[in-house]
Amino acid sequence: MSLHNNFKKVTENIVLLMADKHQTDISMYSDGLIQNVIENRMAALCEDQHEKYFQLLAVTPEEAIKLNNSFSNSYSSFYRNPLTFSFLYQYVLPRIIADKVNSNNNEIRIWSAGCAYGQEAYSLAMMTDDLIKNTNTNAWFSIFATDKLNAELESARCGIYYSEDLKNVPHGYVETYFHKKGETYAVSDHIKKHVEFSEFDLLNNTTSAPPTSIFGDFDLVMCCNVLFYYKPAIQKMMLEKFNRALTENGFLVTGEAETGIVNSAAGFRNYMSPAAIYRKR
Ligand SMILES: C[S@@+](CC[C@H](N)C(=O)[O-])C[C@H]1O[C@@H](n2cnc3c(N)ncnc32)[C@H](O)[C@@H]1O
Repeated sequence: MSLHNNFKKVTENIVLLMADKHQTDISMYSDGLIQNVIENRMAALCEDQHEKYFQLLAVTPEEAIKLNNSFSNSYSSFYRNPLTFSFLYQYVLPRIIADKVNSNNNEIRIWSAGCAYGQEAYSLAMMTDDLIKNTNTNAWFSIFATDKLNAELESARCGIYYSEDLKNVPHGYVETYFHKKGETYAVSDHIKKHVEFSEFDLLNNTTSAPPTSIFGDFDLVMCCNVLFYYKPAIQKMMLEKFNRALTENGFLVTGEAETGIVNSAAGFRNYMSPAAIYRKR
């Protein structure tokens, strides 16, 4: 048996062990991620034999918790993927604002799905506020920001960041949209009132949109650096959810490393290659 096949078998056995022995489902994650997480846990324990790690995991609930927690990655930053944010500012958000102004409905609705510590939602809020001010219209916007992790959401609601977190924030926005508080910067109340943070697990298949949004109908769904952690069947389920939650012709934005996933899915067409910006078909 090749090393690759051997590791595949070990991975399958660990997925089964986690379910049977520790009542923890890790089967939704991509094979590559499961392998990386197992290797990282083995390295942390100075263990180089899969069989021995398997035996340890079988009798150690604490290790099962550590393994499961290792699947979480909440890294985020303001204006991550600068190309995508530049296209959002130049083309997508102005287009959404213009369409709203021309219709009787002046509320722009945005969903930041997998928002981590809030940087993505606040990045969108600052840009949208800036653009609306420049158009002199009465358009209003609401951003529904969701994550499955409550600790990240609590921190996002506070909206407090350090100066090194703000290095990609566009010129002038720090002065306009943050208050300096000692060593930290707090997002202004003016921006915060547009963003509602709530807990929502994207694996929940009973509803397409976060309950806080009541009816979805989003003009833009932004889900970056989340899809690639999951198996193709789960990615498909999430993309179908976003498709249902979007308004007709609504926009979907993913991480730039996730374009292959959306390109091969039904229901979206690429709007602005090479940025990961799509429109509902
Ligand atoms: C790597 S961070 C990306 C944050 C942000 N979107 C960005 O691109 O900077 C991934 C976030 O997605 C969240 N996430 C992963 N799976 C999720 C799920 N099934 N439901 C809701 N949130 C999820 C994680 O908790 C984490 O906060």
